[in-house]
Amino acid sequence: MDIFDRISANRGPLGSQSHYAHGYFAFPKLEGQIHPRMQFRGKEVLTWSLNNYLGLANHPEVRQADIDGATEFGMAYPMGARIMSGNSTLHEQLENELADFVQKPGALLLNFGYQGVVSIIDALVSRHDAIVYDAESHACIIDGVRLHQGKRFVFPHNNIENLEKQLERAKRLTDETGGGILVITEGMFGMSGNLGKLREIVELKKKYDFRLFVDDAHGFGTLGATGAGTAEHLGCAEGVDLIFYTFAKSMASIGAFVAGQESVIEYLRYNMRSQIFAKSLPMPLVIGALKRLELIRNHPEYREKLWTIVRALQGGLKEKGFNIGTTESPVTPVLLNGELSEATALTFDLRENHGIFCSIVVYPVVPKGVIMLRLIPTAMHTLEDVQETIVAFEAMGAKLAKGLYNKTPAPFQTA
Ligand SMILES: Cc1ncc(COP(=O)(O)O)c(C=O)c1O
Repeated sequence: MDIFDRISANRGPLGSQSHYAHGYFAFPKLEGQIHPRMQFRGKEVLTWSLNNYLGLANHPEVRQADIDGATEFGMAYPMGARIMSGNSTLHEQLENELADFVQKPGALLLNFGYQGVVSIIDALVSRHDAIVYDAESHACIIDGVRLHQGKRFVFPHNNIENLEKQLERAKRLTDETGGGILVITEGMFGMSGNLGKLREIVELKKKYDFRLFVDDAHGFGTLGATGAGTAEHLGCAEGVDLIFYTFAKSMASIGAFVAGQESVIEYLRYNMRSQIFAKSLPMPLVIGALKRLELIRNHPEYREKLWTIVRALQGGLKEKGFNIGTTESPVTPVLLNGELSEATALTFDLRENHGIFCSIVVYPVVPKGVIMLRLIPTAMHTLEDVQETIVAFEAMGAKLAKGLYNKTPAPFQTA
């Protein structure tokens, strides 16, 4: 069969919904300055969809640093991959400051988080090694594991007992191959808001020989006494051998970095294919990242404000009887029972009649019959925003319980 014919006939689990979802549930356009109040299809909405955890996206000093970087350097400099011609003193300064911030000896800048994680995993393991990873890991971990030419073992999400079984299997294998074991998980899981059981995993190092790599994309800036993330929050940072963070969340930018012991960072610097075969991060992003890091370091009150909003939102939703799953972090899932048609109708009602914009997650990401609304609180939200949202959710929950969203006709034209 012709490849293009096949993909035109079967557009994938999300693509097959595009006829009604595009422009509304998928690829919506939020317009205006990044802020809790933005425009959606010409109307103001209260947004709970942006990973702008600390509110830096539109911070005046951040905006100015981005402008200054672009004015001085444009988007081209430095040209080429860092290993060839694209290195700069400011790239190195940023790496040193990032390493200091997360209290690791070394750090390596990455152009993108997703490709970075795929490539880190690819660079770390040989075919004699075994990977053991959490089943609910982000797609970039799954794709990195796919590149691995040796054995892989998966453990059910946060199931430490099963992890131990997988470690035993991995150990039997590597005893034969002479390879090592790499355990991979996340710090703060971006969908459920669960924290990885890092303390328990680190504890297992006493019994098994392995290295631990953690993707803490969401933990950076939001968790820990200094904002260094989940491992700092859980008090086990030293046991995490290699840690990844993206600039796409709290830093409100593009880019990422990996931190760990110097020899491993140096190895990655010279062996990560996504970095050595790709152009260096442009200067405005580097200068912008230095400013964002300075603000995160010097303003713990942004993180405190975020947590005030998190506690108010999660406490308020729970008080009204909503199921927010097992979150231990700012990520706030609201789990409802209903069919896809009800999910779209209630999201439409929230957006059009209550002016509340949050993301909607349906099958196959969550089981059939489950609707997940995902709210991301930020330091920019106010307690009034929280109150308004809880009132809207109460009205929506009551309608859902009465089956009223079943009776709602197809609510809109997305075109
Ligand atoms: C857990 C996790 N890892 C990695 C990434 C990818 O990072 P980036 O957006 O920088 O490619 C994301 C999403 O942004 C994420 O949520």
